[in-house]
Amino acid sequence: MDNRPIGIFDSGLGGLTCVKEVMKIMPNEDIIYFGDTGRVPYGTRSRDTVIKYVKQDINFLETFDIKYIIIACGTASSAALPFIEEEYATRISGVLYPAARGAVRATKNKKIGVIGTSGTVKSGKYIEAIHELLPDAQVFQKACPLFVPLVENGMTEGEATRLIAEEYLKELRDAEVDTIILGCTHYPLLTDVIREIVGEGVALIDSGAAAADFAREDMERLGLLSDKNEKGTAKFFVSDSTENFSELGSMFLQKEIDGDVSFTDIEKY
Ligand code: DGL
Repeated sequence: MDNRPIGIFDSGLGGLTCVKEVMKIMPNEDIIYFGDTGRVPYGTRSRDTVIKYVKQDINFLETFDIKYIIIACGTASSAALPFIEEEYATRISGVLYPAARGAVRATKNKKIGVIGTSGTVKSGKYIEAIHELLPDAQVFQKACPLFVPLVENGMTEGEATRLIAEEYLKELRDAEVDTIILGCTHYPLLTDVIREIVGEGVALIDSGAAAADFAREDMERLGLLSDKNEKGTAKFFVSDSTENFSELGSMFLQKEIDGDVSFTDIEKY
């Protein structure tokens, strides 16, 4: 048993999809969240830049004596996870394997769609993760670079968002996928719009929630779960305006996070 906090990070708001699930399935765990809102998006940057950012994000989280880190970001998981894992003593997991596992469990026709940032799609890491679990799966990928700015600006519904989503998703619809990995943790915030376009019959895999489910199993196996009885606390840090994050984050988590958001100068780490 270990009562130290879990560190979770993303380029911005997207990782809250993971935080939400952690709060649901591990309610007595303390959370330190970092959203790199000053440098979002990660998805259009080079792999080297993303690796540099990820290391700084982890260095910052490690100042809190955390017991476990969840990279709640598809882009960061695909660019950096295999390369940095061994550099840190803290156990680190990401979104790729957990989401691929969810998709493989859900698909019936073995046609799986993956939507993600340009960086994630280019890396091909979700395809690898799916094929390791289900070698004869057909995987169809689509980069959706406008989704992250839409979410970061609170545009999770409305006509403009629907039109953009329609354009991005038509290839996957034509390919008749029965499962789509929302491979960027920002995308579950667009679930209603995506669902409207692809229909009820397609399983949508929330990569943030899948990462939280996997982390719980992993921590249990490693004896890292908390044995506290009281409800866990959550502290949020961002590298840009705290107001913007508090407002959109509270809306998403459906709880007030106002007083718990602080600024950090991430370049120092
Ligand atoms: N939530 C991140 C991801 O999963 C967002 C990427 C970005 O910042 O572009 O990929």
